[in-house]
Amino acid sequence: MRKPIIAGNWKMYKTPIESVSFIENLLPLIAGHERDEILIFPPFTSLAAAIIATDDHNVRAGAQNMHWLNEGPYTGEISPTMLMAIGCRHVLLGHSEQRLYFGETDDRVNLKLKAAIIHGLTPIVCVGETLTEREDGRTEEIICRQLRTALNNVSSAEARRLVIAYEPVWAIGTGSTATPEIAAEAHRVVRNELASCCGERTAEATRILYGGSVKPDNISDLMAEDGIDGALVGGASLVPETFAKIVHYT
Ligand code: PGA
Repeated sequence: MRKPIIAGNWKMYKTPIESVSFIENLLPLIAGHERDEILIFPPFTSLAAAIIATDDHNVRAGAQNMHWLNEGPYTGEISPTMLMAIGCRHVLLGHSEQRLYFGETDDRVNLKLKAAIIHGLTPIVCVGETLTEREDGRTEEIICRQLRTALNNVSSAEARRLVIAYEPVWAIGTGSTATPEIAAEAHRVVRNELASCCGERTAEATRILYGGSVKPDNISDLMAEDGIDGALVGGASLVPETFAKIVHYT
């Protein structure tokens, strides 16, 4: 009932030409694959080209971030209406790199989440604890706070398109993936919190992805866990062959 999502977060990699070339190489490797929803998240300058190159195919291109307003004097920002106008339908929100390096806050993630919903974008909201927070035994507290604030004043009807990505900060780009058991435990925490914010039915219907050093050799064990509904892949999503192997997990 929850169709898995395999998503590639390209971060600050790939020009438009490199993005289109990636897509041309990926398409034959995933031809006819309908088991999972396949998404890629190129940087803004490559997004329009990637949306055109994926048109009518089984992979969609989304944005890595956005502002919550439609327009205004906000140098350097991109609005939900601008994303919709180029055919973009997915947006990552609250990625830990935005939180860590660019001052993203839970409150702003909430504004962005509400704007995404109003405009018909599918938001993928990222939550996750740092190593210190985990070592201090605060994992549950942190991910619940991030979720609760992101979902402030969001009704269960509004949350129906919501996707969550649990990404422990200590696993991102480090090569040390969470074990399937650790990931599954955090996913249970996320789903329980979702149930208390938006009701049981929404919690049961919401896809929760795992992110953090997902690779072809660990994806199958992660996907074997009940509550893991897909993956948000960084480094390993940059090469078509590697990303395709992840899409074809067993
Ligand atoms: P990684 O990144 O797969 O390179 O660890 C994941 C992410 O940041 O979404």
